[in-house]
Amino acid sequence: MAAFDALKTQLASEPKTWLVTGVAGFIGSNLAEALLLLDQKVVGLDNFATGHQKNLDQVQARVGVERWARFHFTLGDIRDPDTCQTACRGVDYVLHQAALGSVPRSLEDPLTTHAANNTGFINMLVAARDAQVKRFVYAASSSTYGDHPGLPKVEDVIGKPLSPYAVTKLVNELYADVFGRCYGTESIGLRYFNIFGRRQDPNGAYAAVVPKWVSSMIHNEPVYINGDGETSRDFCYIDNVIQANLLAATSPHPDAANQVYNVAVGDRTTLNQLYEAIRANLAPRFPHLADAKPVYRDFRAGDVRHSLADISKAQTRLGYAPTHRIGEGLAEAMDWYVADLR
Ligand SMILES: NC(=O)c1ccc[n+]([C@@H]2O[C@H](COP(=O)([O-])OP(=O)(O)OC[C@H]3O[C@@H](n4cnc5c(N)ncnc54)[C@H](O)[C@@H]3O)[C@@H](O)[C@H]2O)c1
Repeated sequence: MAAFDALKTQLASEPKTWLVTGVAGFIGSNLAEALLLLDQKVVGLDNFATGHQKNLDQVQARVGVERWARFHFTLGDIRDPDTCQTACRGVDYVLHQAALGSVPRSLEDPLTTHAANNTGFINMLVAARDAQVKRFVYAASSSTYGDHPGLPKVEDVIGKPLSPYAVTKLVNELYADVFGRCYGTESIGLRYFNIFGRRQDPNGAYAAVVPKWVSSMIHNEPVYINGDGETSRDFCYIDNVIQANLLAATSPHPDAANQVYNVAVGDRTTLNQLYEAIRANLAPRFPHLADAKPVYRDFRAGDVRHSLADISKAQTRLGYAPTHRIGEGLAEAMDWYVADLR
């Protein structure tokens, strides 16, 4: 934690201005909250495509009146170049989170995913370049590893994308790299693995596995596992992601910028293990879960079978040191889910 502790002290004494796109979403709202708690000035941009006003309301409640006054929100769409230009003006660092997540969504509607994730991305990159921001940190994705079977995943070795969503995230990396070479724009792509934590949306057809299962278990609804349950993921708690973003934006390491980094823990958890961990966590509060079992169904198109990160690059060049493994993250997130979902 040494690098992150030092950074927090430094930021608190020399506050900066940060643009967080996708600020009404899960990761964006957590980034905004962490920055405001460090007395930073935060500009937020979101069009509420998948984000919610209630996420911003929760941030407001957690940071208090004085810090909330340092937050400026714009309701706007990154598909509009002028909106991006305006949002980047006077900003030190950009944390670009706005995108349409979900592999199944991209299979059903590739055009809309492309517009938000690629047109929106290049609009933001151009705006960040024009505003000469210090660094453009963006949400990349582990889906970029595609069909490459190697484990653990190392940044330099990727396969072919398995979904339109994965294509959009790979294209982000290519554009960011080219902007570095051609215009000197400093960027860092953070390849998030499966992120979970407070304010992750449990609702809708494209909900992520952790909040969806927690919600189903609390409401005594069936929990579906796609496939045999031996599919594995490297689940990463939101606090680790906050740390990675702030370190990436500010890292003075000479080889830090214009790179991509895995953001995960380096732990492999199967869906069967995840089911049992969530069930065991909730069972003391919800007796109907004492001997609950999942329902198995077909594998889902576009999903990779196994995903596990090598996080040594982020550790070495950014000073990234994850504070939460999956068990600690689930224990922390569960109180929030129970309060929110009840
Ligand atoms: N959650 C994960 O496990 C995970 C894994 C890999 C990558 N990512 C990436 O991280 C980022 C944040 O994901 P999240 O889980 O917080 O999702 P989220 O859906 O909660 O947040 C995304 C936010 O972007 C906003 N947005 C979407 N399109 C927009 C547009 N055209 N203009 C302005 N705002 C727009 C949405 O309204 C939402 O608030 C995304 O880029 C996603 O692809 C997430």
